[in-house]
Amino acid sequence: MPELVLGGSNSRHIAYRLSKKMNIMYSTVEVKEFPDNELYVRIPMDVKQREVIYVNSLQPNPNRSLVETILTLDALKKQNAKSIVAVIPYLAYARQDEMFNPGEAVSVLTIADMFKSLDIDQIITVDMHLHRITDPSKVFGSKFTNITGVHEVADYIKSHFKYSNAVVIGPDDEAKQWASLVAKDLNIEYGVFSKKRLSGREVQVEGQAEVKGKDAIIIDDIISTGGTIIEATKLLKSLGANDIYVACVHPLLVEGAYHKLVEHNLKALIGTDTVLSPISFVEIYPAIAKALDKQL
Ligand code: R5P
Repeated sequence: MPELVLGGSNSRHIAYRLSKKMNIMYSTVEVKEFPDNELYVRIPMDVKQREVIYVNSLQPNPNRSLVETILTLDALKKQNAKSIVAVIPYLAYARQDEMFNPGEAVSVLTIADMFKSLDIDQIITVDMHLHRITDPSKVFGSKFTNITGVHEVADYIKSHFKYSNAVVIGPDDEAKQWASLVAKDLNIEYGVFSKKRLSGREVQVEGQAEVKGKDAIIIDDIISTGGTIIEATKLLKSLGANDIYVACVHPLLVEGAYHKLVEHNLKALIGTDTVLSPISFVEIYPAIAKALDKQL
């Protein structure tokens, strides 16, 4: 049985709630920055022969967070923890999953190799960005579990959104997986648009959906710059939708996305706390606790 939950810089709120739910000890990991910006990590207790859960999202600051996470997990391994479960609520670098242009690094493969080389007991992540890789265990190995937070999102929608006659909308083909689950939980229909990415910041969203005179609930895994949601909102308005509600799992909200989105007169804008943001209203720890329960 796990005895200790350790919180990394980005996910102390989740680690703490998990420890309370599991009724085990909680601690933060000590993280400091040297004057030259290198990171210093220290596990502040003896972990020898103890079963440890470490929680850290790789956003914000994906590069720094990745180094912090790798240093911590390796330190736990070298200090002879009996078992180590890494909970990475948001797994960064998963979107570069193919060589789109000659010479590019396929980041997700490199990240997977880094985690595999640590030889820890289990990695749990939430709604990993799955596009071309449909089975993440093929890349990360059998100790990797990808869980979904959309049922927690759907529960929140049910109890907080005052929609009527609504349709769930996935803003692109790959969002079908989340839209269909949320629609099922809410017992309503769903539709899916298609998206062409023009650049890291620009997208074109096209498609049809029976939304005239109805409310729409857009669901996506990630809101990064907000471009996808803004384009989907414009399309829904042009198709005659009434109120538009927006929900996601990972609210990265980079480059002022929050302010851009609120200008679009949305009825609601929510995400989970896999990444902390002004819209992180849905707690993800119950989904993680369930996954841990199944596996430990
Ligand atoms: C990508 O396909 C994802 O599912 C999201 O739609 C995307 O990451 C959102 O990015 P942005 O908010 O920058 O449009």
